[in-house]
Amino acid sequence: MKKQLLFIFLLMSSITHLVKAQEGALSEKLYRPQIHFTPAKGWMNDPNGLIFSNGIYHIFYQHNPYESVWGPMHWGHATSKDLIHWNQEPIAIYPDSIGTIFSGSAVVDKNNSSGLGKNGKGPLVAIYTQHNMEGEKAGKIDFQTQSISYSNDEGKTWTSYAHNPVIKNPGIKDFRDPKVLWYAPTKKWVLVLAAQNKLFFYTSTNLINWTKASEFGDGIGSHEGVWECPDLFPLSYQGKEYWVLIGNLNPGGPNKGSATQYFIGQFDGKNFKPNSTQIKWADYGPDEYAGVSFSNVNNRRIFMGWMSNWMYAGIVPTINWRSALTLPRTLGLEKVGKEMYLSSSFIYELNIAGKKTTPLSSLKNVQFPSRLHLSKIAAKDFSIQLSNTVGDILVIGYSAKNNEYYIDRTKAGVADFHKDFASYNTAPRISNSKTLSFDLVLDKASAELIADKGLSVMTAIFFSHSPYTSIKVISEDKQMANKIKYTTF
Ligand code: FRU
Repeated sequence: MKKQLLFIFLLMSSITHLVKAQEGALSEKLYRPQIHFTPAKGWMNDPNGLIFSNGIYHIFYQHNPYESVWGPMHWGHATSKDLIHWNQEPIAIYPDSIGTIFSGSAVVDKNNSSGLGKNGKGPLVAIYTQHNMEGEKAGKIDFQTQSISYSNDEGKTWTSYAHNPVIKNPGIKDFRDPKVLWYAPTKKWVLVLAAQNKLFFYTSTNLINWTKASEFGDGIGSHEGVWECPDLFPLSYQGKEYWVLIGNLNPGGPNKGSATQYFIGQFDGKNFKPNSTQIKWADYGPDEYAGVSFSNVNNRRIFMGWMSNWMYAGIVPTINWRSALTLPRTLGLEKVGKEMYLSSSFIYELNIAGKKTTPLSSLKNVQFPSRLHLSKIAAKDFSIQLSNTVGDILVIGYSAKNNEYYIDRTKAGVADFHKDFASYNTAPRISNSKTLSFDLVLDKASAELIADKGLSVMTAIFFSHSPYTSIKVISEDKQMANKIKYTTF
């Protein structure tokens, strides 16, 4: 009897293994993106420590290497020469006795202000939150502190600073995600971090001793959720410098869940003063979160986000890995009337990566990844419909009546894992120009729509039951499919 039971048990567990392996292989084939970064294995959320150094772009990321769900966070690592093709690198930073490794940033400490460099050369310094799980479980509130690690071999290996943490918790439960930048006029490092639903600013001369300078966020912006993953950087508009302050928010995004909120204003090394009280989003879609920008890049500001939403990130139907990052985007500023907005465009490296461009009308089967680009058509209704032989349909378009762009994934594929996934998502049209333009990148499981000089941006993921094969354009303008430039990669 015992033997029979053991046999049945072994049989059942090998069947379960086989089914899991098959599901894993299928989701690899159907959903593994081709021009977006994904971890080879395991879980990923926020991009961290985005930095350019000596010709190499580095992304670090929130990573659980053991399972495809959130867990003990490490900093995963990947490198690239062109921001499109990524090499998976060994894990950069591991949890230690202080805590697991939450989100943060990295800087090149050129002048070795920290004294952590070697042979007269400054190190790369990573500044991040350590999350003490035991403290959290014990009901403490000071379980998040800020620590640093440094690398003297271009990010290959990291050593944690001997006297971590460098910023202790002042008695605030959500106290995390430091972003550091060099502010030249005061010759100081500036650190901005999220403290519940506000941002705190600190300054330092050596990346180790920090002094609190100010707070921002009371009575301004959306406060429906917790503020996380801030960023602060200058951008110029018609020769004048403005400062952009990002405060990611979860929940409370324009299409539910997580989203990237931003403010534009002035910064003097200590205080940020916004120009406007209007609530603004860098990406209105449901699936861009924790977006921040690269450090140490000359002449452009490159932004990347996590392509998911905390509402369902841990239960999407990929098995071996979970989540991708958005394509890198170049940020700029645009004015509409008196208001100033962020504008986004895909990095120019994407143009170089494109293999072949044809009019969409000459296309037989849609391919993934691909890019649809159209400039200047009358601002009238249109829709682009992707479908397959099993009845899934994904619709991306513009509604003139509502003056908004939309991504309708209500019937786009697998959605039973979360009640809010089968959603109709919208982004207001911010531009007031008579003609509209868009740039749309489709990968196996994602659509990124950048419209009107990047004033309206939307990212949405989807999980079709089988690959989409057909693409149809519906518009009053019968020439629209001729006008859309279709590029494969
Ligand atoms: C944002 C976030 C951060 C935190 C990290 C933990 O998605 O919640 O605030 O540092 O993820 O993985």
